[in-house]
Amino acid sequence: MCGIMGYIGRKDGYPMVIDGLKKLEYRGYDSAGVAIMNGTLSLYKKQGKVNQLEQYIHNQKTNGNIALGHTRWATHGVPNDSNAHPHTSESGRIVMVHNGIIENYGALKSFLVTKGFTFQSDTDSEVLVQYIEWYQITYKLTLKEAVRRALGDVDGSYAIVVLDSLNPDSVIVAKQDNPLVLGIGVDEIYIASDASPISTYTQEVIYLQDGDCAQLFDDGTYTIFDLENNTVEPSITTVKCSNDNYSLEEYDSYMLKEIFQQPESVKACISPRIDLDNYEIVIPEIDNHKRIFANANKITIIGCGTSWHAGLIGEYLIESLADTCVEVEYASEFRYRSPIIRENDIVIAISQSGETADTLAALKLANEKGAFTYSLVNTEGSTIARHSDAVSYLSVGIEIGVASTKAFTAQVSLLTMIALKIARIKGTMETKEYKSIVSQLSELPTLIKKTLETNSMMHEVASCHYEKDHAMFLGRGANFPVALEGALKLKEISYIHAEGYPAAEMKHGPIALIDEKMPVFVVATNTSALSKMISNVQEIKSRKGQVIVLKEEGQDFPEEIADHIISIPQTHEVLSPILSSIPLQLYSYHAAKMRGCNVDQPRNLAKSVTVE
Ligand code: AGP
Repeated sequence: MCGIMGYIGRKDGYPMVIDGLKKLEYRGYDSAGVAIMNGTLSLYKKQGKVNQLEQYIHNQKTNGNIALGHTRWATHGVPNDSNAHPHTSESGRIVMVHNGIIENYGALKSFLVTKGFTFQSDTDSEVLVQYIEWYQITYKLTLKEAVRRALGDVDGSYAIVVLDSLNPDSVIVAKQDNPLVLGIGVDEIYIASDASPISTYTQEVIYLQDGDCAQLFDDGTYTIFDLENNTVEPSITTVKCSNDNYSLEEYDSYMLKEIFQQPESVKACISPRIDLDNYEIVIPEIDNHKRIFANANKITIIGCGTSWHAGLIGEYLIESLADTCVEVEYASEFRYRSPIIRENDIVIAISQSGETADTLAALKLANEKGAFTYSLVNTEGSTIARHSDAVSYLSVGIEIGVASTKAFTAQVSLLTMIALKIARIKGTMETKEYKSIVSQLSELPTLIKKTLETNSMMHEVASCHYEKDHAMFLGRGANFPVALEGALKLKEISYIHAEGYPAAEMKHGPIALIDEKMPVFVVATNTSALSKMISNVQEIKSRKGQVIVLKEEGQDFPEEIADHIISIPQTHEVLSPILSSIPLQLYSYHAAKMRGCNVDQPRNLAKSVTVE
């Protein structure tokens, strides 16, 4: 799970490659490196982030018309300089960047050791580049043939770019289960893990398919072929020039910026889909497949992490409003059992990045089983979007902070609209209730803006609890996934151990953890569950827990049983999870900052998890 950026053409490739690596850091940021060809090969690699590599290279020779770059998320071997890519072969002649996992690297390495090869790193990737050289030397092959033959022996996944420094007029690329995109310019070709870093320079791209290899020449020509050496006809797609805004503006982090963008990002997601004059929800992806949605036996929602939490809220919404059976599955588990998908089933894949390997694998399985697949993704043209029968984009703009915030509120907003849309098609809702929700939905951006006013309060709550090593989040109904999401956010950016539970489950075990050192966040904005939540809070208080209650303005709550009460704007119960998640995002942000953590790039994580 790494980012690849490469250039071959007439210009100096380094500036484009380093710029591209910064845009691909969402795929990993524990080490980075570049190889530049200019008569001789220059290789720079460093543990740390891309800007550390850039500083390291500053004042060094960087001109050269072929440049291969890589930003890494460690799988095999700790993050350090020698495990950083690019990797070179025994002779130093062949250089390669790799994204993926060579699963049979152990057997290949043992074989190479018997042939006298030595290794500088602990990575599976170095084994592959050495193996390519073994083929090249043993059978006196061109690089193209050596790569093709070597890949025939490989088990696992890869997106690779390989250069033979003794024949530097071309590079060989190949792809299996990891994305690789070619950008076709005038007399030049760009190579990247996604189209975003390429689209600044050219909008003509080729998404390589699994099993594709290509030889890219420095005059901008190329040939695509498969592992059997059959020619593959290129399929060129035109992408939009990326207008992603990478500026932090007045914020100290992308996470905070993205939290505060939510009034606009939710508006961008919902406004084009609400026709208030006619109280209609406009989702062409559903309108075009009305019969499928009206007759679905079951909807299975798949996703990971925050996207899975959004799916859980979607389950409450679709079941209660549209009377359709919904199951929510961890995408990572879905394909490792025997999921029952029948004719007339719909599988909805939720993914901010559209590149999550587990979600993609589950989606492919759903496709194989004949389900109608519908994806809700943020990144246009992403792999999950391209493998679905229908796709709705979140349209919230690039999300850079590893902790997903604005994508989550958009996912839940979109799921709410999907539930309303299916309900309308099936006639499962009273018109009055339906119109009331549609009208309150259109108010969401304003309500989110008001909810963001809890920022100073959440700062204050964080200053009371940021040193505590544990936290608990409780909710009922659709606020249970909000509790899970609150706990995930806190864990991933502050490294505080946090658990989310359905409030009523607490007494079945977790209550044993409650003492005066345990902050407990109680999400009590759903009025229908309020009296039960008050009882749960009493149970926590009796055990000296520190209670932070999130409630709606105007809700009657016995203030004396809570240590902090945070009030957020009143809205329809089905919309309240969108609002109640926001103070919890703010709490995580403040707690993490107070603990000195990097909120945008937390340790061990990557924005997009592209390995299974
Ligand atoms: C969210 O804060 C996490 N970083 C993570 O759980 C994320 O939601 C998950 O990896 C799924 O990503 P996706 O939405 O891009 O598929």
